[in-house]
Amino acid sequence: MDKILVTGGLGFIGSHTVVELQNEGYEVVVIDNLSNSSIEVLDGITAITGKTPTFEKLDLREKLSVEDFFKKHTNIKGVIHFAASKAVGESVNEPLLYYENNISTLVYILKELKKLPETSFIFSSSCTVYGQADELPITENAPVKQAESPYGNTKQIGEEIISDTCKVTPSLKAIALRYFNPVGSHESAKIGELPIGVPQNLVPFITQTAIGLREQLSVFGDDYPTPDGTCIRDYIHVVDLAKAHVIALGRLLKNKHKSNYETFNLGTGTGSSVLEVINSFEKVSGKKLNYKIVGRREGDVISAYADTTKANNELGWKAQLTLDDAMRSAWKWEQVVRSR
Ligand code: WQD
Repeated sequence: MDKILVTGGLGFIGSHTVVELQNEGYEVVVIDNLSNSSIEVLDGITAITGKTPTFEKLDLREKLSVEDFFKKHTNIKGVIHFAASKAVGESVNEPLLYYENNISTLVYILKELKKLPETSFIFSSSCTVYGQADELPITENAPVKQAESPYGNTKQIGEEIISDTCKVTPSLKAIALRYFNPVGSHESAKIGELPIGVPQNLVPFITQTAIGLREQLSVFGDDYPTPDGTCIRDYIHVVDLAKAHVIALGRLLKNKHKSNYETFNLGTGTGSSVLEVINSFEKVSGKKLNYKIVGRREGDVISAYADTTKANNELGWKAQLTLDDAMRSAWKWEQVVRSR
């Protein structure tokens, strides 16, 4: 089977995607600089699939290292590019770190792919490119809005760089996958989300509060124009998301694409409020969660959930796992990690 490079392959979504690629029989090479992951994730992947991907610790900001990598691995048929910084709040305080790490590295990789006879490229994008969409659910034709953060801007710029490159590089086929909110963990609890420091995202903060690592969850506002006053998001199980990457890659490898640059929204198509996520967690864990309502968080959109028609019809992919499945797996993972 084809050899696939996964950058950021020891990260949360990357590691789950490596598992699904190996399940499909692909040969996988992982690049990761371990800035937001740990080498033990390799053991988790091996424990699930019985195969250890080739691993190279490499910082994609080092242009010469990227060139050397592609000299060494000459028969790469596809690349799934996760490696990037992704903390919205941090990006506001450290914009140059985000433009260097998320943009320069993309350019270096694309320059190497341009040299290859043919390559399939999957880009990790985000629903954040839509900002607060005017219409819900959000389709791929929704206008891209002024980014709310440098992180979101790097995803918008990244998509433009890829689109512009594909226009003049017939040998390069690319798909940008716009994730909604990835949550949960592999059912084995061998891999999962490992936020470093205080979690920014809702679900890891919930599980860390429930296990006693955090005192209390702050719910950022209940005065929004939504049924229960809290913000609505489309929480997609990370395993469904990982499977979508393998399907999108296959679309390109088998030349089933309609143009050499396409975008797809990846969500469940259902919106859930913060309080609904909390209720789901309490139901599946049997734990009462300690939380309080506080003021709104700067930059939060009121509501965002996907119109998944295009991914359903074109990719033949539909999310199978539920919010309860995601909460159950996230809680199981939290308990395993804290028992180590
Ligand atoms: C979800 C909801 C918060 C924490 C971000 C990025 C997006 C993607 C996913 C990278 C919101 C509320 C949260 C807390 C809370 N990241 N919340 N208390 O902001 O929708 O998306 O992460 O790709 O690009 O923008 O996710 O989990 O931070 O917040 O009340 O302690 O939970 O206000 O309504 P978000 P989130």
